Amino acid sequence: MSNVFYAPGEPRAAKVSDLFAAIARRYDLLNDLQSFGLHRRWKSRVAALAAVAPDARALDLCCGTGDIAFTLARRGAETTGLDFSEKMLEVAESRRLKNSKFKTQNLKFIQGDAQQIPFPDNSFDIVTVGYGLRNLASWERGLDEMFRVARPGARLIVLDFGKPPNALWRKIYFTHLKISVPLMGWLFCGNAQAYAYILESLKHYPAQLAVAEKMRALKLANVRVINLLGGAMAINYGEKPE
Ligand SMILES: C[S@@+](CC[C@H](N)C(=O)[O-])C[C@H]1O[C@@H](n2cnc3c(N)ncnc32)[C@H](O)[C@@H]1O
Repeated sequence: MSNVFYAPGEPRAAKVSDLFAAIARRYDLLNDLQSFGLHRRWKSRVAALAAVAPDARALDLCCGTGDIAFTLARRGAETTGLDFSEKMLEVAESRRLKNSKFKTQNLKFIQGDAQQIPFPDNSFDIVTVGYGLRNLASWERGLDEMFRVARPGARLIVLDFGKPPNALWRKIYFTHLKISVPLMGWLFCGNAQAYAYILESLKHYPAQLAVAEKMRALKLANVRVINLLGGAMAINYGEKPE
C-alpha cells in the first residue's frame, strides 16, 4: 500500500511539506525516542567532520528544527539553516531564541528550497544536509546544488538513513521501520503514516553507495562513506576540489 505522504516527481514537495507541518511540534521528541538519542551523536559526528575553521561559513540544508545548524554555530561557523517548512523553522527559531548564545550572532534560519538554493555559487566552506536528501524530488539535484554553493575546498556532508549491506540486518532494520517506527509515531504524535513514510522514502532512495558514486561523478576529493549501526545510518563526505 502506498503512503499518503509519498508521491513521485513534482507533487513530492507539497506532500513532504504537509508531512513536516503535521509533525513539527513532536519532531524532536520522536527523534530521541526512535534513535534512543543516538541521532545527537551522529549529528555531532557531522559537525566534527565539518572541521569548522575560524570565519567558516556553513549552510545546513533541510535544517528542520536546527540540530546540525546549532552544532555548527556552536563550533564557531557563521551558519545558515535552510528549510522550506514554516512550521519546522518556527520550532528552530524558538529554540534559537531560548538559547542566548544564538540570539543575534552567528546563526540564522531562512525559508528556501534545497533544490534551488538562494545563494550564489561558491558561497560556503561547509554544506551539510541531515535526513534531507532522501526527501527531495531529486536527490541528485540536491547534491548538484550543494556542490554549486560550496567554495573550492569546502566540505559536503550528508547524513541519512542507509541501506545495510548485510541482508539479515537489513531485513531486521526494515521491519523496525515498518512496524515499530510508525507505532511510535501513532503513540506519541498521533500520526502513524508520517512515520511509515521513512521506509517508503528509503525504498525510493538509493542511499549511501549511490550518494558516494554521485560525489565521485562531481569530482569531489576524499569521498568517504561512514556506515553507522551497520549501515542503517550513513554519512557521506566529500570535498570540492580547489
Ligand atoms: C527529516 S527532517 C530533518 C531535519 C534536520 N535536518 C534533522 O536532521 O533533524 C527533513 C527536513 O527537510 C525539509 N525539506 C524537505 N524537502 C525540502 C526542500 N526541497 N527544501 C528545503 N527543505 C526541505 C523538511 O521540511 C524537513 O524539515
